[in-house]
Amino acid sequence: MDERCERPAVAEDLPLLLPWGAELTAGDERVFAQAFHQALRPPAEAWVIAEARGKPVGLCALTPSAVSSCAGFLEWLRVPPAPRPPGVGRPLVALALRRSAERGWRQLHVYTFGENRPSLHLYLDMGFLPVATWRDFRGPGRHYVQLCWEAGGDLQGGNGGRAGG
Ligand SMILES: CC(C)(COP(=O)(O)OP(=O)(O)OC[C@H]1O[C@@H](n2cnc3c(N)ncnc32)[C@H](O)[C@@H]1OP(=O)(O)O)[C@@H](O)C(=O)NCCC(=O)NCCS
Repeated sequence: MDERCERPAVAEDLPLLLPWGAELTAGDERVFAQAFHQALRPPAEAWVIAEARGKPVGLCALTPSAVSSCAGFLEWLRVPPAPRPPGVGRPLVALALRRSAERGWRQLHVYTFGENRPSLHLYLDMGFLPVATWRDFRGPGRHYVQLCWEAGGDLQGGNGGRAGG
């Protein structure tokens, strides 16, 4: 396996990341391009895990909460579609949790679809707990889930997940 490293995302990464965005934006690359540029601008931040030659193999972004100085959101967690390089998602979430702590956040929130088994599995295993669910009006049987990781495991049920990369 290529040696991997974490680095802040840069605007030049966009052409490589664009096709990954299609997976969660109904194929509309403009939605992802706009979100990516927003994620590069403080107070947001975006990170990639890159191969030795600098090519990104995973992306995540962090955005502070608008209502609490000690909470933020994990967004745009993604690894390229098939053939998906293994073992990138978990280190990305670990990176997000580390950055979240470095920013002094006590809570990190994330939204996903209830049908998104890989992401749900990952978040729950890393100590996020579901805090809300609601129906997706665009499709019968679909629903969103909001999950939260809280420092110290203060949420009911605790944060017992393994957060190691
Ligand atoms: C969610 C996502 C980031 C996970 O990345 P990944 O590189 O597959 O994650 P890892 O290889 O580090 O695996 C993490 C865990 O997920 C599990 N996993 C991977 N694919 C899975 C699947 N289809 N069903 C269930 N679990 C799965 C792995 O087995 C691993 O668990 P383990 O360590 O207990 O064995 C990736 O699937 C992705 O980019 N999906 C599309 C975008 C997306 O859904 N983003 C999240 C939206 S909030």
